[in-house]
Amino acid sequence: MKYFNFWNEVPTPSYVVHKEELEKNLEILAKLQDETGAKVLLAQKCFSMYYYYPLIAKYLTGTASSGLYEARLSKEYFKKENHTYSPAFKEEDFDEVLKYSDHIVFNSFNQLKKFGEKAKTYGKSVGLRLNPEKSTQNNPLYDPASPNSRLGVPIGEFVSEETDILDGFHFHTLCEQDADDLEITVNAVEKNFGVYLKGKKWLNLGGGHHITREGYNIELLKRIIKNLQDKYNLEIYLEPGEAIALNAGFLVTEVLEAKEKRQVAIVDTSAACHMPDVLEMPYRPFIINSYPAKEKPYNYKIGGPTCLAGDVIGEYSFDAPLKEGDRLVFTDMAIYSMVKNNTFNGMPLPSIIAFDGKNWKIVKKFSYEDFKMRL
Ligand SMILES: Cc1ncc(COP(=O)(O)O)c(C=O)c1O
Repeated sequence: MKYFNFWNEVPTPSYVVHKEELEKNLEILAKLQDETGAKVLLAQKCFSMYYYYPLIAKYLTGTASSGLYEARLSKEYFKKENHTYSPAFKEEDFDEVLKYSDHIVFNSFNQLKKFGEKAKTYGKSVGLRLNPEKSTQNNPLYDPASPNSRLGVPIGEFVSEETDILDGFHFHTLCEQDADDLEITVNAVEKNFGVYLKGKKWLNLGGGHHITREGYNIELLKRIIKNLQDKYNLEIYLEPGEAIALNAGFLVTEVLEAKEKRQVAIVDTSAACHMPDVLEMPYRPFIINSYPAKEKPYNYKIGGPTCLAGDVIGEYSFDAPLKEGDRLVFTDMAIYSMVKNNTFNGMPLPSIIAFDGKNWKIVKKFSYEDFKMRL
Protein backbone atom coordinates (compact mmCIF):
# COMPACT_ATOMS: atom_id res chain seq x y z
CA MET A 1 0.00 0.00 0.00
CA LYS A 2 1.24 3.50 -0.88
CA TYR A 3 2.67 5.24 2.26
CA PHE A 4 1.78 2.13 4.25
CA ASN A 5 3.23 3.12 7.64
CA PHE A 6 1.76 6.54 7.52
CA TRP A 7 -1.76 5.24 6.90
CA ASN A 8 -1.51 3.21 10.09
CA GLU A 9 -0.44 6.17 12.20
CA VAL A 10 -3.19 8.70 11.52
CA PRO A 11 -6.45 8.84 13.49
CA THR A 12 -9.50 7.51 11.65
CA PRO A 13 -11.56 8.63 9.98
CA SER A 14 -9.45 11.42 8.52
CA TYR A 15 -9.15 13.33 5.28
CA VAL A 16 -5.48 13.51 4.38
CA VAL A 17 -4.55 16.12 1.79
CA HIS A 18 -1.21 15.66 0.08
CA LYS A 19 0.63 18.91 -0.60
CA GLU A 20 2.74 17.49 -3.42
CA GLU A 21 -0.31 16.15 -5.28
CA LEU A 22 -2.00 19.52 -4.86
CA GLU A 23 1.07 21.27 -6.22
CA LYS A 24 1.17 19.00 -9.28
CA ASN A 25 -2.30 20.28 -10.18
CA LEU A 26 -1.42 23.87 -9.35
CA GLU A 27 1.64 23.77 -11.60
CA ILE A 28 -0.50 22.68 -14.57
CA LEU A 29 -2.98 25.50 -13.88
CA ALA A 30 -0.25 28.11 -13.36
CA LYS A 31 1.31 27.07 -16.67
CA LEU A 32 -2.07 27.48 -18.36
CA GLN A 33 -2.29 31.00 -16.94
CA ASP A 34 1.25 31.83 -18.14
CA GLU A 35 0.73 30.43 -21.62
CA THR A 36 -2.69 31.92 -22.30
CA GLY A 37 -3.02 34.98 -20.08
CA ALA A 38 -6.30 33.53 -18.77
CA LYS A 39 -6.86 33.74 -15.02
CA VAL A 40 -7.68 30.70 -12.90
CA LEU A 41 -9.72 30.97 -9.69
CA LEU A 42 -10.24 28.31 -7.00
CA ALA A 43 -13.96 27.45 -6.71
CA GLN A 44 -14.13 27.24 -2.93
CA LYS A 45 -17.40 25.30 -2.99
CA CYS A 46 -15.35 22.26 -3.98
CA PHE A 47 -12.31 22.64 -1.75
CA SER A 48 -12.16 25.10 1.14
CA MET A 49 -9.29 23.67 3.19
CA TYR A 50 -7.97 27.12 3.94
CA TYR A 51 -4.84 25.73 5.56
CA TYR A 52 -3.61 25.39 1.96
CA TYR A 53 -4.87 28.78 0.72
CA PRO A 54 -1.47 30.51 1.06
CA LEU A 55 0.03 27.72 -1.08
CA ILE A 56 -2.74 27.84 -3.69
CA ALA A 57 -2.52 31.64 -3.78
CA LYS A 58 1.09 31.36 -4.95
CA TYR A 59 -0.14 29.72 -8.15
CA LEU A 60 -3.65 31.02 -8.90
CA THR A 61 -5.21 34.46 -9.44
CA GLY A 62 -7.90 34.24 -6.78
CA THR A 63 -11.09 32.53 -5.69
CA ALA A 64 -14.69 32.06 -6.75
CA SER A 65 -17.23 32.27 -3.92
CA SER A 66 -20.85 31.13 -3.68
CA GLY A 67 -21.94 33.73 -1.17
CA LEU A 68 -21.05 35.61 2.00
CA TYR A 69 -19.23 32.93 3.97
CA GLU A 70 -16.98 31.73 1.18
CA ALA A 71 -16.27 35.34 0.22
CA ARG A 72 -15.21 36.07 3.78
CA LEU A 73 -13.03 32.96 3.97
CA SER A 74 -11.30 34.07 0.80
CA LYS A 75 -10.70 37.57 2.16
CA GLU A 76 -9.31 36.20 5.43
CA TYR A 77 -7.07 33.43 4.11
CA PHE A 78 -6.60 33.65 0.32
CA LYS A 79 -6.14 37.42 0.22
CA LYS A 80 -6.25 37.84 -3.56
CA GLU A 81 -8.93 38.55 -6.16
CA ASN A 82 -12.38 37.21 -5.20
CA HIS A 83 -15.40 36.73 -7.47
CA THR A 84 -18.78 36.11 -5.84
CA TYR A 85 -21.75 34.67 -7.68
CA SER A 86 -25.01 33.61 -6.07
CA PRO A 87 -28.28 32.44 -7.64
CA ALA A 88 -29.87 35.11 -5.38
CA PHE A 89 -28.16 37.54 -3.01
CA LYS A 90 -29.92 38.41 0.23
CA GLU A 91 -30.46 42.09 1.02
CA GLU A 92 -29.09 41.75 4.56
CA ASP A 93 -25.88 40.06 3.36
CA PHE A 94 -25.10 42.24 0.41
CA ASP A 95 -23.05 45.04 2.03
CA GLU A 96 -20.75 42.48 3.59
CA VAL A 97 -20.50 40.50 0.35
CA LEU A 98 -19.33 43.70 -1.32
CA LYS A 99 -16.62 44.14 1.31
CA TYR A 100 -15.07 40.80 0.45
CA SER A 101 -15.55 40.71 -3.34
CA ASP A 102 -13.93 42.24 -6.41
CA HIS A 103 -16.36 40.82 -8.96
CA ILE A 104 -20.07 40.36 -8.26
CA VAL A 105 -21.98 38.14 -10.66
CA PHE A 106 -25.78 38.26 -10.72
CA ASN A 107 -28.09 35.47 -11.80
CA SER A 108 -30.95 37.59 -13.20
CA PHE A 109 -31.79 41.06 -14.48
CA ASN A 110 -33.99 41.45 -11.43
CA GLN A 111 -31.03 40.95 -9.06
CA LEU A 112 -28.89 43.18 -11.26
CA LYS A 113 -31.50 45.92 -10.96
CA LYS A 114 -31.71 45.47 -7.19
CA PHE A 115 -27.98 45.44 -6.40
CA GLY A 116 -26.02 46.40 -9.53
CA GLU A 117 -25.77 50.18 -8.94
CA LYS A 118 -24.64 49.68 -5.37
CA ALA A 119 -21.94 47.23 -6.45
CA LYS A 120 -20.75 49.77 -9.04
CA THR A 121 -20.73 52.57 -6.48
CA TYR A 122 -18.41 50.46 -4.34
CA GLY A 123 -16.07 50.02 -7.32
CA LYS A 124 -16.90 46.39 -8.04
CA SER A 125 -16.77 44.73 -11.43
CA VAL A 126 -20.31 43.63 -12.24
CA GLY A 127 -21.32 40.58 -14.26
CA LEU A 128 -24.31 38.51 -15.27
CA ARG A 129 -24.54 34.74 -15.52
CA LEU A 130 -25.77 33.50 -18.88
CA ASN A 131 -27.49 30.21 -19.58
CA PRO A 132 -26.48 28.94 -23.03
CA GLU A 133 -29.20 26.25 -22.86
CA LYS A 134 -26.83 23.70 -24.36
CA SER A 135 -26.47 20.49 -22.39
CA THR A 136 -23.28 18.52 -22.87
CA GLN A 137 -23.85 15.93 -20.13
CA ASN A 138 -26.55 13.49 -19.02
CA ASN A 139 -26.90 14.11 -15.29
CA PRO A 140 -29.62 16.75 -14.62
CA LEU A 141 -28.42 17.06 -11.01
CA TYR A 142 -25.20 18.62 -12.26
CA ASP A 143 -26.44 20.24 -15.47
CA PRO A 144 -27.20 23.97 -15.16
CA ALA A 145 -28.15 23.99 -18.86
CA SER A 146 -31.00 21.52 -18.43
CA PRO A 147 -34.53 22.65 -19.37
CA ASN A 148 -36.08 25.29 -17.10
CA SER A 149 -32.89 25.62 -15.04
CA ARG A 150 -32.87 28.43 -12.46
CA LEU A 151 -29.19 29.13 -13.15
CA GLY A 152 -28.27 31.93 -15.50
CA VAL A 153 -30.23 34.09 -17.93
CA PRO A 154 -31.42 32.33 -21.12
CA ILE A 155 -31.60 34.32 -24.33
CA GLY A 156 -35.42 34.45 -24.03
CA GLU A 157 -35.07 36.53 -20.84
CA PHE A 158 -32.14 38.66 -21.98
CA VAL A 159 -32.80 42.42 -21.78
CA SER A 160 -30.28 44.02 -24.12
CA GLU A 161 -31.23 47.57 -22.98
CA GLU A 162 -30.06 46.80 -19.45
CA THR A 163 -26.51 45.66 -20.18
CA ASP A 164 -24.60 48.98 -20.04
CA ILE A 165 -23.86 48.50 -16.35
CA LEU A 166 -22.20 45.13 -17.00
CA ASP A 167 -18.42 44.66 -17.10
CA GLY A 168 -18.60 41.02 -18.06
CA PHE A 169 -20.47 37.77 -18.39
CA HIS A 170 -20.27 34.38 -16.71
CA PHE A 171 -21.48 30.93 -17.64
CA HIS A 172 -21.10 27.54 -16.01
CA THR A 173 -22.48 24.33 -17.49
CA LEU A 174 -19.79 21.65 -17.20
CA CYS A 175 -19.12 18.94 -14.61
CA GLU A 176 -15.95 16.81 -14.84
CA GLN A 177 -15.80 17.50 -18.59
CA ASP A 178 -13.21 17.97 -21.29
CA ALA A 179 -12.48 20.90 -23.60
CA ASP A 180 -14.57 19.52 -26.49
CA ASP A 181 -17.70 20.06 -24.36
CA LEU A 182 -16.47 23.54 -23.52
CA GLU A 183 -16.13 24.23 -27.25
CA ILE A 184 -19.76 23.17 -27.85
CA THR A 185 -20.85 25.42 -24.97
CA VAL A 186 -18.81 28.40 -26.15
CA ASN A 187 -20.33 28.04 -29.62
CA ALA A 188 -23.81 28.19 -28.04
CA VAL A 189 -22.83 31.22 -25.94
CA GLU A 190 -21.46 33.00 -29.00
CA LYS A 191 -24.51 32.15 -31.08
CA ASN A 192 -26.95 33.57 -28.51
CA PHE A 193 -24.92 36.25 -26.78
CA GLY A 194 -21.91 36.97 -29.04
CA VAL A 195 -23.02 40.51 -29.91
CA TYR A 196 -23.28 41.40 -26.23
CA LEU A 197 -19.75 40.21 -25.44
CA LYS A 198 -18.28 42.97 -27.57
CA GLY A 199 -17.07 45.94 -25.57
CA LYS A 200 -17.13 44.09 -22.25
CA LYS A 201 -14.06 43.50 -20.08
CA TRP A 202 -14.24 39.85 -19.16
CA LEU A 203 -15.85 36.47 -19.65
CA ASN A 204 -15.85 33.81 -16.94
CA LEU A 205 -16.07 30.25 -18.29
CA GLY A 206 -17.13 28.79 -14.91
CA GLY A 207 -15.94 25.45 -13.58
CA GLY A 208 -16.28 21.77 -14.42
CA HIS A 209 -13.12 21.79 -16.55
CA HIS A 210 -11.19 18.63 -15.57
CA ILE A 211 -7.97 20.27 -16.69
CA THR A 212 -5.63 18.29 -14.42
CA ARG A 213 -7.10 14.89 -15.28
CA GLU A 214 -4.82 12.69 -17.34
CA GLY A 215 -5.73 12.93 -21.00
CA TYR A 216 -7.55 16.28 -20.75
CA ASN A 217 -7.24 18.18 -24.05
CA ILE A 218 -5.40 21.23 -22.77
CA GLU A 219 -4.31 22.30 -26.27
CA LEU A 220 -7.97 22.65 -27.30
CA LEU A 221 -8.68 24.64 -24.13
CA LYS A 222 -5.83 27.01 -25.01
CA ARG A 223 -7.22 27.47 -28.54
CA ILE A 224 -10.71 28.23 -27.18
CA ILE A 225 -9.26 30.83 -24.79
CA LYS A 226 -7.14 32.46 -27.50
CA ASN A 227 -10.05 32.59 -29.89
CA LEU A 228 -12.24 34.37 -27.32
CA GLN A 229 -9.43 36.78 -26.43
CA ASP A 230 -8.73 37.62 -30.09
CA LYS A 231 -12.35 37.90 -31.17
CA TYR A 232 -13.76 39.91 -28.27
CA ASN A 233 -10.69 41.36 -26.56
CA LEU A 234 -11.85 39.92 -23.23
CA GLU A 235 -10.05 38.90 -20.06
CA ILE A 236 -10.83 35.18 -19.66
CA TYR A 237 -11.45 33.62 -16.26
CA LEU A 238 -11.88 29.96 -15.34
CA GLU A 239 -13.10 28.85 -11.92
CA PRO A 240 -12.53 25.11 -11.56
CA GLY A 241 -12.86 23.40 -8.22
CA GLU A 242 -12.16 19.73 -8.82
CA ALA A 243 -9.17 20.34 -11.10
CA ILE A 244 -7.35 22.03 -8.23
CA ALA A 245 -7.50 19.23 -5.68
CA LEU A 246 -8.10 16.28 -8.02
CA ASN A 247 -6.49 13.10 -6.62
CA ALA A 248 -4.85 15.10 -3.82
CA GLY A 249 -6.95 13.75 -0.95
CA PHE A 250 -7.48 10.44 0.84
CA LEU A 251 -10.03 9.32 3.38
CA VAL A 252 -8.37 6.95 5.85
CA THR A 253 -10.77 4.63 7.63
CA GLU A 254 -10.76 1.58 9.84
CA VAL A 255 -12.74 -1.64 9.54
CA LEU A 256 -15.06 -2.02 12.53
CA GLU A 257 -16.52 -5.34 11.54
CA ALA A 258 -16.08 -7.68 8.59
CA LYS A 259 -18.44 -10.57 7.92
CA GLU A 260 -16.80 -12.77 5.34
CA LYS A 261 -19.74 -15.16 4.97
CA ARG A 262 -22.26 -12.40 4.37
CA GLN A 263 -19.74 -10.42 2.38
CA VAL A 264 -20.32 -7.19 4.27
CA ALA A 265 -17.96 -4.88 6.12
CA ILE A 266 -18.63 -1.83 8.27
CA VAL A 267 -16.06 0.95 8.44
CA ASP A 268 -15.83 4.06 10.65
CA THR A 269 -16.76 6.35 7.78
CA SER A 270 -20.09 6.90 6.08
CA ALA A 271 -21.01 7.61 2.48
CA ALA A 272 -23.97 9.67 3.68
CA CYS A 273 -21.89 11.76 6.10
CA HIS A 274 -18.34 11.91 4.81
CA MET A 275 -18.53 11.38 1.05
CA PRO A 276 -22.10 12.35 0.08
CA ASP A 277 -21.24 12.53 -3.63
CA VAL A 278 -20.87 8.75 -3.61
CA LEU A 279 -24.64 8.54 -3.08
CA GLU A 280 -25.59 11.71 -4.91
CA MET A 281 -23.77 11.25 -8.22
CA PRO A 282 -23.56 8.22 -7.62
CA TYR A 283 -20.09 6.68 -8.00
CA ARG A 284 -17.84 4.05 -6.43
CA PRO A 285 -14.65 5.54 -4.98
CA PHE A 286 -11.41 3.61 -5.31
CA ILE A 287 -9.85 1.92 -2.26
CA ILE A 288 -6.08 1.38 -2.36
CA ASN A 289 -5.24 -2.34 -2.78
CA SER A 290 -8.83 -3.24 -3.66
CA TYR A 291 -10.26 -4.74 -6.85
CA PRO A 292 -13.61 -4.63 -8.62
CA ALA A 293 -16.37 -6.72 -7.04
CA LYS A 294 -15.88 -10.49 -7.25
CA GLU A 295 -12.55 -10.24 -9.07
CA LYS A 296 -10.58 -11.49 -6.05
CA PRO A 297 -11.55 -14.22 -3.55
CA TYR A 298 -12.70 -11.94 -0.72
CA ASN A 299 -15.67 -9.82 -1.62
CA TYR A 300 -17.38 -7.19 0.56
CA LYS A 301 -20.15 -4.65 0.35
CA ILE A 302 -18.61 -1.86 2.42
CA GLY A 303 -20.78 0.59 4.32
CA GLY A 304 -20.91 2.99 7.23
CA PRO A 305 -22.22 2.65 10.78
CA THR A 306 -25.32 4.83 10.26
CA CYS A 307 -28.94 3.62 10.23
CA LEU A 308 -29.41 4.42 6.54
CA ALA A 309 -29.82 1.13 4.67
CA GLY A 310 -28.34 2.75 1.59
CA ASP A 311 -25.23 4.02 3.37
CA VAL A 312 -23.14 1.72 1.21
CA ILE A 313 -19.90 2.92 -0.33
CA GLY A 314 -19.62 0.10 -2.82
CA GLU A 315 -18.71 -3.50 -3.46
CA TYR A 316 -15.02 -4.43 -3.54
CA SER A 317 -12.86 -7.52 -3.54
CA PHE A 318 -9.48 -8.16 -1.90
CA ASP A 319 -6.63 -10.68 -1.95
CA ALA A 320 -7.06 -11.41 1.75
CA PRO A 321 -10.03 -11.33 4.12
CA LEU A 322 -10.72 -8.00 5.83
CA LYS A 323 -10.45 -7.98 9.59
CA GLU A 324 -11.30 -5.63 12.43
CA GLY A 325 -8.76 -2.82 12.69
CA ASP A 326 -7.65 -2.98 9.03
CA ARG A 327 -7.12 0.38 7.40
CA LEU A 328 -8.96 1.15 4.17
CA VAL A 329 -7.85 4.21 2.23
CA PHE A 330 -10.29 5.85 -0.19
CA THR A 331 -8.69 7.98 -2.92
CA ASP A 332 -9.65 11.33 -4.47
CA MET A 333 -11.36 12.51 -1.29
CA ALA A 334 -10.32 16.17 -1.14
CA ILE A 335 -13.01 17.41 -3.52
CA TYR A 336 -16.64 17.96 -2.47
CA SER A 337 -15.99 15.90 0.67
CA MET A 338 -15.14 18.06 3.70
CA VAL A 339 -17.21 20.94 2.28
CA LYS A 340 -20.29 18.70 2.15
CA ASN A 341 -19.96 16.46 5.18
CA ASN A 342 -22.45 16.28 8.04
CA THR A 343 -23.07 14.63 11.40
CA PHE A 344 -26.20 12.60 10.59
CA ASN A 345 -26.68 9.88 13.25
CA GLY A 346 -24.23 11.80 15.42
CA MET A 347 -21.37 10.60 13.21
CA PRO A 348 -18.08 12.25 14.16
CA LEU A 349 -16.53 14.40 11.45
CA PRO A 350 -13.22 13.13 10.04
CA SER A 351 -10.08 14.94 11.16
CA ILE A 352 -8.35 17.04 8.53
CA ILE A 353 -4.69 16.24 8.02
CA ALA A 354 -2.01 17.91 5.90
CA PHE A 355 0.75 15.68 4.53
CA ASP A 356 3.82 17.19 2.89
CA GLY A 357 5.32 14.00 1.50
CA LYS A 358 7.34 13.35 4.65
CA ASN A 359 5.37 14.48 7.69
CA TRP A 360 1.70 14.70 8.51
CA LYS A 361 -0.06 16.98 10.93
CA ILE A 362 -3.60 17.32 12.17
CA VAL A 363 -4.99 20.63 10.98
CA LYS A 364 -8.48 20.16 12.45
CA LYS A 365 -9.95 17.70 14.90
CA PHE A 366 -13.67 17.56 15.70
CA SER A 367 -15.57 16.51 18.79
CA TYR A 368 -19.02 16.09 20.30
CA GLU A 369 -19.27 19.89 20.51
CA ASP A 370 -19.20 20.19 16.69
CA PHE A 371 -22.18 17.85 16.49
CA LYS A 372 -24.06 19.59 19.32
CA MET A 373 -23.50 23.20 18.27
CA ARG A 374 -25.39 22.78 15.02
CA LEU A 375 -28.54 21.49 16.67
C1 LIG B 1 -20.74 28.58 -10.70
C2 LIG B 1 -19.76 27.48 -10.47
N1 LIG B 1 -18.45 27.70 -10.67
C3 LIG B 1 -17.53 26.74 -10.47
C4 LIG B 1 -17.89 25.48 -10.05
C5 LIG B 1 -16.82 24.45 -9.81
O1 LIG B 1 -16.99 23.32 -10.60
P1 LIG B 1 -15.99 22.09 -10.51
O2 LIG B 1 -15.66 21.82 -9.10
O3 LIG B 1 -16.78 20.97 -11.13
O4 LIG B 1 -14.80 22.45 -11.34
C6 LIG B 1 -19.25 25.18 -9.84
C7 LIG B 1 -19.69 23.85 -9.42
O5 LIG B 1 -20.81 23.53 -9.25
C8 LIG B 1 -20.22 26.22 -10.05
O6 LIG B 1 -21.52 26.00 -9.83
